[in-house]
Amino acid sequence: MKFFVDTAEIDAIAELHALGMVDGVTTNPSLIKKSGRDILEVTREICDLVSGPVSAEVTATDADDMIAEGRKLAEIAENIAVKVPLTWDGLKACKVLTDEGKMVNVTLCFSANQALLAAKAGATFISPFIGRLDDIALDGMELIEDIRTVYDNYGFETEILAASIRSVNHVLDCARIGADVMTAPPGVIKSLVNHPLTDKGLDAFLADIKAADIKIL
Ligand code: G3P
Repeated sequence: MKFFVDTAEIDAIAELHALGMVDGVTTNPSLIKKSGRDILEVTREICDLVSGPVSAEVTATDADDMIAEGRKLAEIAENIAVKVPLTWDGLKACKVLTDEGKMVNVTLCFSANQALLAAKAGATFISPFIGRLDDIALDGMELIEDIRTVYDNYGFETEILAASIRSVNHVLDCARIGADVMTAPPGVIKSLVNHPLTDKGLDAFLADIKAADIKIL
């Protein structure tokens, strides 16, 4: 499963990139706002750092302006994936931009029917939002399962980019189901390493190293 980092914070991306944990980056208007940066500048800086797909979201809601914005975003770098919302205008922009050879990430997906439309519109990625479904007592992981089944039934090449990931359990469940990509905040990715028995075991080893005066160098 590919790991995308869901942030526009350059330092956080760089830290995980140095560990080989960054196959791509996703941003959205809320993450750009949080960064306090100009969207074109920060997106260009991310593309200079990360060679994998970097999602940058349009601000328009009508197809013609989404297409114009998408073309401008795509000029930033070869690895830009233009992010459009799952609306009919977004799907029209997706079809036009993918026909032009650009990567498109269709976002704000909350049903398998929506994901089916995105695949038929030629989407490179579909972004189903797990956490926001869980927030209203629905089952976000069930959506990932449904999309995986539908896409596999018909051989759609659109990659499932599981998003709105809030926990390490979401990450594991996505991997169990077979999502192609998961995008998570840096903190969730960093939490994947944690286990109390690892800490306990290492403490015991260190105590024995000290007690036995084990030296290598
Ligand atoms: O990529 C989408 C993601 O940023 C949304 O996450 O936690 O705001 O639902 P969240």
